[in-house]
Amino acid sequence: MKTYETIGECLALHTEHVSLIYRCRISEPLEILYLGDRICSQETLRQLSEGPALPGYPSYGDGSSRSSAFRLLPADTAGLVSSRLVFSHVEHDDDTVILHLNDQALPLKVQLRIEVWYAYDIFGMSTRVSNGGDRGISLGSISAAWLSLPWKEAALSSLTGSWAHEMNLSEQQLNPGTHTIGERCGVRTTRYVNPSIFLSHGPEAAGESFGECVGLTYAWSGNWAYQLELDGRSSLSIAAGEHPDTAYRFLEAGESLSTPWLYLSHHCEGRGELSRRFHRWAKEQIIPGGEHHRKIVLNSWEAAYFDFDQDSLEQMIDSAADTGIELFVLDDGWFGSDYPRNSDTQGLGDWEVNTEKLPDSLDSIAAHCKDRGISFGLWIEPEMVNPKSRLYEEHPDWIIRAEALKPSIERHQLILDLSREDVYRWVRDTVLSCIEALEGLSYIKWDCNREIQEFSGSYAAIDGYVENYYRILDELRSSYPDLVLQDCASGGGRVEYGALSRTHEFWASDNTDPLQRIFIQWGTGMFFPPSVTAAHVCSAKNHVTGRAVPMKFRCDVAMSCRFGIEMSLTDASEDSRKIIAKAVSEYKRIRHIITEGELYRLHSPYGSHYASLVYILPDRSQALLFAWELRFAVGNSSEWVCIPALEPQGSYLVEEINPVPFDPHMMNMVVPIEHDQCVYTGEFLKKRGLEMAFRYEYDSRVYLLTSS
Ligand code: DGJ
Repeated sequence: MKTYETIGECLALHTEHVSLIYRCRISEPLEILYLGDRICSQETLRQLSEGPALPGYPSYGDGSSRSSAFRLLPADTAGLVSSRLVFSHVEHDDDTVILHLNDQALPLKVQLRIEVWYAYDIFGMSTRVSNGGDRGISLGSISAAWLSLPWKEAALSSLTGSWAHEMNLSEQQLNPGTHTIGERCGVRTTRYVNPSIFLSHGPEAAGESFGECVGLTYAWSGNWAYQLELDGRSSLSIAAGEHPDTAYRFLEAGESLSTPWLYLSHHCEGRGELSRRFHRWAKEQIIPGGEHHRKIVLNSWEAAYFDFDQDSLEQMIDSAADTGIELFVLDDGWFGSDYPRNSDTQGLGDWEVNTEKLPDSLDSIAAHCKDRGISFGLWIEPEMVNPKSRLYEEHPDWIIRAEALKPSIERHQLILDLSREDVYRWVRDTVLSCIEALEGLSYIKWDCNREIQEFSGSYAAIDGYVENYYRILDELRSSYPDLVLQDCASGGGRVEYGALSRTHEFWASDNTDPLQRIFIQWGTGMFFPPSVTAAHVCSAKNHVTGRAVPMKFRCDVAMSCRFGIEMSLTDASEDSRKIIAKAVSEYKRIRHIITEGELYRLHSPYGSHYASLVYILPDRSQALLFAWELRFAVGNSSEWVCIPALEPQGSYLVEEINPVPFDPHMMNMVVPIEHDQCVYTGEFLKKRGLEMAFRYEYDSRVYLLTSS
């Protein structure tokens, strides 16, 4: 396993299938020679080192007018300063390489740190700057990572949206010029666009299994941006890091600063393999306990909102336990005594139990869960405060605000300034005491329902906020290693690997409409493992869209990720409860395939009447196929779904999961096609595929394939 080699001035970093190659000339700017399929021959390396190169980490004004990774500002004027970062030396161990650069204008040292995740084909990049002088230095920008690629044409695939509409795949050809894609919400990173993108070589975005592309994901819960420049000289440059509007930092004499990490991979044959690499890496290395399956949840939010009491919660727990659900999560609304949290207008910040609603406290709820053999989880949003709360009355100075401006209110709430040591300590102690006080608490849903909208102070304070948020999560995990943490921010507002390296799963969206969830989960799965993507069955009429879809479809969509329920089972019909109970028991049988399997997206929901994907276990012994009809039309209902990557010579027994009987009253003439209990070869399944005869709007199929 060779992760690093030098041939003359050429420094090559290798994963199993990808090489990243620099030209390092002492006292000259660093250059990139190559990012692409693994280079194995030393002769090729030699030839590359003699060929053309692109900037490796350019500084503003170092001889080029193009974008830069690094920009100085003079301390005392509003102008700009040219500087030049030149290569000094390299340090390395088995899986980390540090390229040392010096600035020729000022006593600044820059370290480009590159982690080589050999088995996962992923590189991590982060930058550290140190001020070795005796005066403070202003930095206009410092990229965490920089790449230049010899691409004349490029396409960007990003994951965009808004609240309840997260992670829509949007694709565009890049015009020559500069493009910035990023967020400045301060504490919620993925609200409008996710810091995970694909860049494809050519005018069109790479498909699942064709086209050269690079996948990049920035692991940070603060501001971020990619600055892309497609220039007239056939190259694409990518600067990843802080958003340019908030990038300014001041380095005192002797001070250093390290950026967050960017993770990237390259593949010549489509983005499907890039997704699988990110999933594998995340499950095995990044997400706590990522290799293990999660429990099936019933969450109280859409079932009750703020309207519950001891009895109704006990009934919810009973119905969850009767259905085979493994974890009950009590969402918002359980706290606040002077200002009871009976709506989102008050009580946030007062983390004591509302004894009017719950006279026997939370202990009795936890005890009831225990009696019924299920685990108990609790919602918190400890970074926030309602103006109508005791906390705000006692500490009005704790909030983030801009001096002289009236603080803006979002969802009736303000943000606590977590960068302050006293606020950090209060939040940490409050969360820890909630956990300590409650025997049997095994899960926390940590929410964050607003962003920073105005603020005065240094941008470094936002870094401090995020670092303290991470610090608390790290402390929680070390004090309570078995506690499961769900990452939530008004749905999928913090779906990035900064938060996800410290939490066990995430709530992908407040939109639980299964039709729209197919798109949200499709986008989320581009970079994040479905096994940690919480997906819940909603009530008959969805609360966000008003759409009503069959219970089977609702289950079949939620079962393709981390399965749960977000509706009242107490009010559900007998039929619905039966379908859910069956789905719950089937999910227990098949969830190892979602957890350990590799995701192949087979048919995109974009621009089509159906969507389908499959998970295949690495040893190909089992696969789980999902297919969903999104828009039924007579004559347009039959599709062949071909399944790649099975054992061609093997035979697979097909079992239909969650089947519903054929309805003879449907007059659309679709003849149902039965695959249940049929046996097909891997070759047949790949080359001919399984025919899906969708019978009506929101028809769906789940097939378990087991090597026989
Ligand atoms: C936003 C979350 O995304 C919801 O699931 C729910 O927990 C509410 N907050 C509660 O206020």
